[in-house]
Amino acid sequence: MAEDLERVKKRVEELREEIRKHDYYYYVLNQPIISDAEYDRLFRELQELEEKYPELITPDSPTQRVGAPPAEEFAPVHHAIPMLSLQNCFTQEEFLEWDRRVRRLLGGERPVYVCEPKLDGLSVELMYEDGVFTVGSTRGDGYVGEDVTRNLRTIRQLPLKLLPLDGRVPRLLEVRGEVYMEKEAFRRLNREREERGEPPFANPRNAAAGSLRQLDPSITAGRPLKLFCYALGRVEGLEIKTQEELLTLLARLGFPVNPLWRRCEGPEEVFEFYRELLERRGDLPYEADGCVVKVNDFSQRELLGEVSRAPRWAIAFKFPAEEATTRVLDIVVQVGRTGALTPVAILEPVEVSGVTVSRATLHNEDEVKRKDVRIGDWVVVRRAGEVIPEVVKSIPERRTGKEREFRMPARCPACGGPVVRPPGEVAHRCENLSCPARIKESIRHFASRRAADIEGLGEKLVDQLVEKGLVRRISDLYRLTKEELAALERMGEKSAQNLLEQLERSKGMSLARFIYALGIRYVGEHTAEVLAERFGSLEELANASYEELVEIPEIGPRIAQSIVDFFASEDNRRLIAELAALGIAPRSEAKPPEEKPLSGKTFVFTGRLSGLSREEARRLVESRGGRVASSVSRKVDYVVVGEEPGSKLARARELGIPILSEREFRELLGG
Ligand code: IVH
Repeated sequence: MAEDLERVKKRVEELREEIRKHDYYYYVLNQPIISDAEYDRLFRELQELEEKYPELITPDSPTQRVGAPPAEEFAPVHHAIPMLSLQNCFTQEEFLEWDRRVRRLLGGERPVYVCEPKLDGLSVELMYEDGVFTVGSTRGDGYVGEDVTRNLRTIRQLPLKLLPLDGRVPRLLEVRGEVYMEKEAFRRLNREREERGEPPFANPRNAAAGSLRQLDPSITAGRPLKLFCYALGRVEGLEIKTQEELLTLLARLGFPVNPLWRRCEGPEEVFEFYRELLERRGDLPYEADGCVVKVNDFSQRELLGEVSRAPRWAIAFKFPAEEATTRVLDIVVQVGRTGALTPVAILEPVEVSGVTVSRATLHNEDEVKRKDVRIGDWVVVRRAGEVIPEVVKSIPERRTGKEREFRMPARCPACGGPVVRPPGEVAHRCENLSCPARIKESIRHFASRRAADIEGLGEKLVDQLVEKGLVRRISDLYRLTKEELAALERMGEKSAQNLLEQLERSKGMSLARFIYALGIRYVGEHTAEVLAERFGSLEELANASYEELVEIPEIGPRIAQSIVDFFASEDNRRLIAELAALGIAPRSEAKPPEEKPLSGKTFVFTGRLSGLSREEARRLVESRGGRVASSVSRKVDYVVVGEEPGSKLARARELGIPILSEREFRELLGG
């Protein structure tokens, strides 16, 4: 038996090594060397072995990136070496001034610089002890940050274990870097949030910060965070003398390092780097707000030291702001597909980093109030990396007294129906299902690129189709005739024919796209994919109960209720039957949920367990498909009581939740 376990242990370690290597190729180098299927096989084999032998699970196992239970608060982490901030400069003049001071302090020597893009995210410190990731923290105030280890673990680029250098790893290594979100991922996240009626994040930086500082790591795990490393804290057992050496070494140890860094000899080369980066700025997948210029040589850095919490050996050379000031000519209200009313500022056109902006979203009424934006105001507008322009703030100092406050209309501007604001929501809504603005938006959504992808069914055409009464619901699209289409403005035989072909082609869309295209509230692309995979057909989904839906890990109560409501509607059921009759009924391969002995069961622990730690107990529950919660509520199935239990025991009694002793708990687990 013992021999058996040894063999399993060896295999588990082999698998981890192998998976770590492929994670590095895939997530850090962006160059996978095996197929996804092969990777999945390795990963599943490891998961199965760990399930069978939970005692072999270690925190650095690739399976342990997700699944930690929510925390009640973040513990403080002291940074042994403070995490400083950077001084800024905005012009070549200012940079030259900084360079002159550096040279003077170095006794006339000309330092070599290393330039790196300055990413707009949030900085973190990652501690590795004997090559294993142990603690990760935010910068905080520079001296004390927050322990976000479990959230950082979910970032696939972050090495849980270092790749050895010549067979060795440093005793202690604190690496610093930036956690960020790419622009595309940010846009997608915001789209999903808006669909769910949640307030969107203002910019990728806020989205990254909000995602990392989540008490529930499973939320972080669902957010596409990325990492670049660029600096050091404490180091033991490794000697590094320059920034160049550091960046090369970090990459070899398995850290993601931004490949755009460059060695620059003197200010001219720095300016060239800056210009090139500024030019590429729009094409970069992430937002960069400047470049960081650092003295390469660490011994020179020591001579230079620091002032007022910023080093003298580095400076952030910032790009010009993507902001401009202009006037608000009007505030209009747009009606979305779900009936949500969005105030939009109509602006006197203004150029913001090369693009003319004449409209900017104000999100909702609360935002208008918070920013105190009035019609006629001067405002600051920002265009953050191709995101929809937004009004940052008003400039009350420039008011003349003629400005008018904005009021959400009591009636829908499109159909005249009543406007309501459901309790607990930020958005006002038009509740009229046949509101033409809503119909237009739902048809546009259905036809959009990520949904049914019907090319040629543009905004103007949808307007005409709805206004002429040719289309009242999605199914009407598939009944349009060539004659009807050709008779519309700006349409001819040819474009009518093309559109019919596009419509025909769209009948073959995937089930996930179809679910997304229906425009069920709170169901974004990702949720649609999850649902398609779980149910395999629309019919199955339509018949799913609320209970079945909330059982799915990524489906919360609000989404589940919205899906149930959608399919409970007679109208929607008819629409789906019509679509099926027209030949649109995509299917996918459904995967039934994996059943494990404790699937769907939630445990709470209180008091000290004698034979195992809390962490071990949690792993035992999770490896059998169960969950561990931190507080007692009606949703909890068992409360496990150790020595000197806390108030949770009383609460469990109050709610009549089954109480288990440690022995009973072990029995339940199967010995
Ligand atoms: S070095 C003491 N390098 O900018 C210098 N910082 O404004 C430590 N940042 O807190 C920072 N990209 O969050 C460095 N390539 C880069 C950076 C970078 C972004 C952030 C970092 C820092 C802030 C200072």
